Amino acid sequence: MCGIVGYIGRREAYPIIINGLKRLEYRGYDSAGIVLSTPKGFELVKTKGKVSDLEEKSTSIDQTPTIGIGHTRWATHGVPNDVNSHPHLSNNGRIVLVHNGIIENYESIKKLLIEKGYTFQSDTDTEVLVNFIQLFQEEQNLNLRDAVRLALNEVVGAYAIAVLDNQDPDTIVVARLGSPLAIGIGKDEFFIASDASPFIEFTKDAIYLEDGDMASIRLGEEVAIHTIHNNEPVSLDIQELQLNIEAIEKGGYEHFMLKEIYEQPRSIRDTMRGRLLVDEGIIKMAGIWDNQERFLKAKRIIIVACGTSYHAGLVAEYMIEDFARIPVEVEYASEFRYRNPIIKKNDVVIAISQSGETADTLAALKLAKEKGAFIFGINNVVGSSIARITDAGAYTHAGPEIGVASTKAFTAQLTILSLIALKLGKKNGELSNEKYNLLTRELDRIPELVEKILIDCEGKIEAIAEKYKDNRNAIYLGRGYNYPSALEGALKLKEISYIHAEGYPAAEMKHGPIALLDENMPVIVIATKRGYYEKVVSNIQEIKSRSARIIAVVNEGDEQVIAMADDHIFIPETAEEFTPILAAIPLQLLSYWIAVKLGKNVDQPRNLAKSVTVE
Ligand code: F6R
Repeated sequence: MCGIVGYIGRREAYPIIINGLKRLEYRGYDSAGIVLSTPKGFELVKTKGKVSDLEEKSTSIDQTPTIGIGHTRWATHGVPNDVNSHPHLSNNGRIVLVHNGIIENYESIKKLLIEKGYTFQSDTDTEVLVNFIQLFQEEQNLNLRDAVRLALNEVVGAYAIAVLDNQDPDTIVVARLGSPLAIGIGKDEFFIASDASPFIEFTKDAIYLEDGDMASIRLGEEVAIHTIHNNEPVSLDIQELQLNIEAIEKGGYEHFMLKEIYEQPRSIRDTMRGRLLVDEGIIKMAGIWDNQERFLKAKRIIIVACGTSYHAGLVAEYMIEDFARIPVEVEYASEFRYRNPIIKKNDVVIAISQSGETADTLAALKLAKEKGAFIFGINNVVGSSIARITDAGAYTHAGPEIGVASTKAFTAQLTILSLIALKLGKKNGELSNEKYNLLTRELDRIPELVEKILIDCEGKIEAIAEKYKDNRNAIYLGRGYNYPSALEGALKLKEISYIHAEGYPAAEMKHGPIALLDENMPVIVIATKRGYYEKVVSNIQEIKSRSARIIAVVNEGDEQVIAMADDHIFIPETAEEFTPILAAIPLQLLSYWIAVKLGKNVDQPRNLAKSVTVE
């Protein structure tokens, strides 16, 4: 939540920061701001709204300086308005700061500052922090770096910050605790950003700041990193970025979400590449292989995740228990971390997270680590916080996901979880060779089947969306492996079209939700041939007799369900265990087209952010 960009070098900072903020808008987009450092002082502009609104407002400032920082916000403290937008200036006008995170003890610090005569314009914790830095600087006559360090030592919370001092205009000070920050290293220039996408066309060399570290970045000098706590020097770990510019552009699609839906044959294939060697009957996964004793001796696997990643975890629960007969529990990370869970040394805790930065998932993992469990990460973003704290892990290789609603990351997660479940089942002998071979061959076909769905659905789902777009509610139903598909379908619809939707196991209908059914309620049912088909057919009959409208996701050749349904979408038949990957595609498209037809902002839905780095 919130994106930070900064530049210091020989070029004009303004276009680099503005373009960088646009790439980080997925992190928050309710307000934006920029400050440029000139020998005469700061040029600062900020506004409620998006980066494009900031651009319009920025015509009033000198855009030629070569040092600056910018921010795109997802509000935590204070409503989105011009005053609460970042950057925030200190009372003396000397220090300016952008911040991603939350300062939890800001009220007590603010009280202290007010007692000392400080005044505040905004409701933010960030304005408190910048004035707290001023207090240290003035009272102890410190340079910016030392003032920032001492102030941060008093702060409780999470942050990634970038700070400028107009009396030392060639320096940017940055620090991180709990929110990500990368430093791009060019020739005679440095870039700062919440992820590497803002500077990928300028340099491939980057340092990911570790939690508890801060850096002083000065033109003509090497980056100097120290620990915030005790000022110990930290050695530089410069990494080569694998990201490319095409991956973060729309490539001719109207929205990132649509591009990412259509990328799925590729992203699923990339996730399997080098891992599933179907002809040899081998699944190669170093993270599992090197730690197989931990997995195979585990009394229990606990999966922690949020949102869509949690839904992937639910599918994994069915699969790992089915293939490997290891008990699995799946929990929302936000609940797990606070409920004093029982975690034993021989438990394996798997965190699933696209961003690798979700605060609750990260905290749940840290808790599991403290209790001695083996922690394993499934992430999409290379070098993310979760990837760095886990004992081992596997990347999903879906490529950057920019649309706020998760699509290709979900199917990549399902793919990798399928590989893990198959590998564990094969290794501990619970899965017969015959079934293993059959399933690995079936998994290998999935990218091709996804491609077929995308071709077959062309135009069809758009027409269905037109019919149902004005309904204010929807119910999604599935059973077995497709119960999580129903939850995920409902989540996709509500987050981008703001239509209230609920997902249920189909058989749960009669225990309450059936009361909601009438001719105005669309019910989306996943009824694939190999999964409790007859049972779902009975559930559909119950729905039909309450006059609700049925949209059925069924296998090609189905006759029974389509005779009862108002509309249907075909997906090819595959092993039941992998149908959630296929069922996800039409459900994503249905949400997408409904949101488009309602004129919603598909890639940046209201109130949401891609990377939830606050709890
Ligand atoms: C839904 C969505 C969110 C995320 C959730 C977890 O489309 O994007 O529900 O799935 O915030 O995020 P990650 O996977 O980054 O931990």
